[in-house]
Amino acid sequence: MAASPHTAVVGLAWGDEGKGKIVDLLCADFDVVVRYNGGANAGHTVCIGAQKFALHLLPVGVLREEVTAVIGPGVVIDATSLLKELDELAERGIDVGKRLRISTRAHLVMPYHKIEDRLREGGDAERIGTTTRGIGPCYADKMVRSTALRMVDLLELPRIEGRVRSLVDAKRTQLGARIGGEEAVLNFGEIWGDLRIAAERLGPLIGDTSAYLLDAADAGKRVFFEGANGMMLDVDHGTYPYVTSSSTGPQGIAAGAGVPPRFVGRTIGVTKAYTTRVGEGPFPTELHDETGERIREAGHEYGTTTGRPRRCGWLDAFALRAMVRLGGVDEIAVAHLDTLSGFKRVGMCTQYRLAGRPLNSLPASAAEMSRVDTVVEMLPGWSEDLRGCADRGRLPANARSFLTRLEEVARVPVTIVSVGPDRDQTIIGG
Ligand code: GDP
Ligand code: IMO
Ligand code: MG
Repeated sequence: MAASPHTAVVGLAWGDEGKGKIVDLLCADFDVVVRYNGGANAGHTVCIGAQKFALHLLPVGVLREEVTAVIGPGVVIDATSLLKELDELAERGIDVGKRLRISTRAHLVMPYHKIEDRLREGGDAERIGTTTRGIGPCYADKMVRSTALRMVDLLELPRIEGRVRSLVDAKRTQLGARIGGEEAVLNFGEIWGDLRIAAERLGPLIGDTSAYLLDAADAGKRVFFEGANGMMLDVDHGTYPYVTSSSTGPQGIAAGAGVPPRFVGRTIGVTKAYTTRVGEGPFPTELHDETGERIREAGHEYGTTTGRPRRCGWLDAFALRAMVRLGGVDEIAVAHLDTLSGFKRVGMCTQYRLAGRPLNSLPASAAEMSRVDTVVEMLPGWSEDLRGCADRGRLPANARSFLTRLEEVARVPVTIVSVGPDRDQTIIGG
């Protein structure tokens, strides 16, 4: 049997690894691009010449005219936010039109999910530091089932009016006094009005995307999967409870896109040349000093979705190796190698230790994860500006050694190196 041409890009850390840029670059050779997890918590940036795009619910592939974009069943959709994204693209001359297909089975993020998310995050000790896009509460309702709404419901609006009314009432009661000034947002009339607009505009795009993908594959089309968030944020395998609420890695593709487990033939894991994290939770290689500050400024490490400053640290290649194994990742794309130019020495964590003993996997307990000691190798740095470099062989010797060391620790090849935010600032090939 010929190898599957279908390819996936996933983040190997806590999100914002630079997936958007890599997807944009690679999906030129594909017919369909699919989002299979998460929602508008994602922020995928693409720079094309002077133009910069930040996409949240739409897969980045939609920027290419010849590509069909799919939002799969595993995604949670804030319809108003999706419409805004479509309108913003239209204003910039990108007409997504019929090139978008949305799964009937994807769930709807409702206004009360966002309120619930904000209230939960409201300052007590159990803060996760979410994006407050309603992601967790929506996935929670998906699992409860009787309290959930799906895209297919938009196709049968008259039938669900009573149901939506009682859901809104129930949520108002449930959120109770805590809701305070946000009560106005839980107005049935307004919510219903927005659903009607969503049904009218998105209705023609809603269908069975799983059947669409399988038919496309049978017809010889190539499918690309765009992971959102990052594997260290995976609800099962990440730094729980400081994670997002979906299956972010390759594990999530079959369920979240509605394709067979062996559909994908090539999986590319994306990492920065250092590690970042937004929100709360353990981050063993975090630098609380001026080096961390320097990385943040050099890499413009401020969130695409929320604008929050990202926490920065040396590359956690130990955690990365664990994610490569878990996801069966075939190769690595390294972004932001340019950002490390000018550091005398650059660090790479190759091992965790706990109570003096080396670990061979990641602790399940966030408390334990916060206590690990990291073995950080300090490698010689480089000072050259890498942004014009088009060939791995022409990188400074120390930058090449950094990549080689990463390959040794990760035990898979680095096949893409990104040396700037632009499409053409990329070195392809190991
Ligand atoms: P994503 O969520 O994984 O798609 O990543 P984000 O888009 O949230 O964050 C990555 C940021 O880094 C964006 O602002 C990109 O434009 C930028 N970026 C991506 N690759 C590179 C790179 O190689 N060098 C530099 N300097 N910036 C990059
Ligand atoms: P992209 O696709 C970075 C983080 C949040 C928070 C935790 C839970 O751009 O890489 P949520 O709102 O999902 O319930 O928040 O997960 N998080 C991300 N961090 N990039 C993302 O997406 C993220 N998506 C969620 O900051 O810590
Ligand atoms: Mg992002």
